Amino acid sequence: MTTVSDVRLYEVGPRDGLQNEKKLVPTEVKVTLIEKLAAAGLTKIEATSFVSPKWVPQMADSTDVMAQINRVDGVDYPVLTPNLKGFEAAAAVGATEVAIFGAASESFSQKNINCSIAESLDRFLPIMAQAADQNIAVRGYVSCVVGCPYEGKVDPAVVADVAAKMMDMGCYEVSLGDTVGVGTPKDIRDMLTVVMDRVPGDKLALHCHDTYGQALANILAGLDMGIAVIDSSVAGLGGCPYAAGASGNVATEDVLYMLNGMGVKTGVDLDKIIEAAWYISDFLGHAPNSKVAVALRNK
Ligand code: HMG
Ligand code: MG
Repeated sequence: MTTVSDVRLYEVGPRDGLQNEKKLVPTEVKVTLIEKLAAAGLTKIEATSFVSPKWVPQMADSTDVMAQINRVDGVDYPVLTPNLKGFEAAAAVGATEVAIFGAASESFSQKNINCSIAESLDRFLPIMAQAADQNIAVRGYVSCVVGCPYEGKVDPAVVADVAAKMMDMGCYEVSLGDTVGVGTPKDIRDMLTVVMDRVPGDKLALHCHDTYGQALANILAGLDMGIAVIDSSVAGLGGCPYAAGASGNVATEDVLYMLNGMGVKTGVDLDKIIEAAWYISDFLGHAPNSKVAVALRNK
């Protein structure tokens, strides 16, 4: 067991969290949320996506969001870019980090980005080339690392292959997504064992949706294997519009409470995360999808 002593939390709430909300969130609310998250000490805040507004209407104001954030030194504001068009728009508004996103399931790849896995990897190559020219960091995502909403169980060897190809292309890190949150700690361990044969654990992140309530246990399994970057979403917001039934990512405040209790350092202030969680939840008109945010408000 190699439980880590420091964890970098990679916040996906403003992107993964909000992309699935039916109610259109005004740009200024998104910007305020991002600024509250930076004030809490998060250093990676995925701000928005440069995707087709026909596919994800909530992200249509990506240029405005990026232009309006009051950027804090030492904080990165990565954005999703599925193709060169998205990359160019992101670069034009000063993005210093982008994320490409692929999958380990052919059906999910088709539903999410309208191409096969192989086509997606080809599509990422010009993004990688331009990013290298412009000194823009690129993160890779692999979705459906343990299960797919259309195909069921996913072969860890396929996950390892896509992740290794993303690293070979020049990604600085690959985030492994349990997109539908179906995995259990055994699935995560089995998957990581295969992936870590091809990609070192210090280049991997875990991105757990919490649909079946397994996310914290799955993250703990990852920590025990040396994974030190954890994706999470303030207030447990979110889901994926192309993964029916997928609920939010694990809540940032729930992960943080666990890590604080374990003495693992993150540099993130729990009270300020809770404040951000209630800010966005009050706007959306529902309670945070987080045990900790509710427990601490009721104290
Ligand atoms: P397509 O329809 O095959 O694209 O979609 P196309 O190249 O044929 O273009 C069609 C139209 O989209 C054109 O406009 C393009 O200009 C426009 P039209 O001529 O019809 O007016 N277009 C764009 N507009 C803005 N920005 C762009 C862009 N590209 C094309 N970048 C495409 C292909 C990839 C664009 C589409 O499938 C798409 O946008 N998909 C994104 C879906 C998405 O955002 N999903 C959620 C994020 S992934 C996720 O949540 C999983 C993750 O969290 C990890 C996990 O949980 O596992 C990361
Ligand atoms: Mg996700």
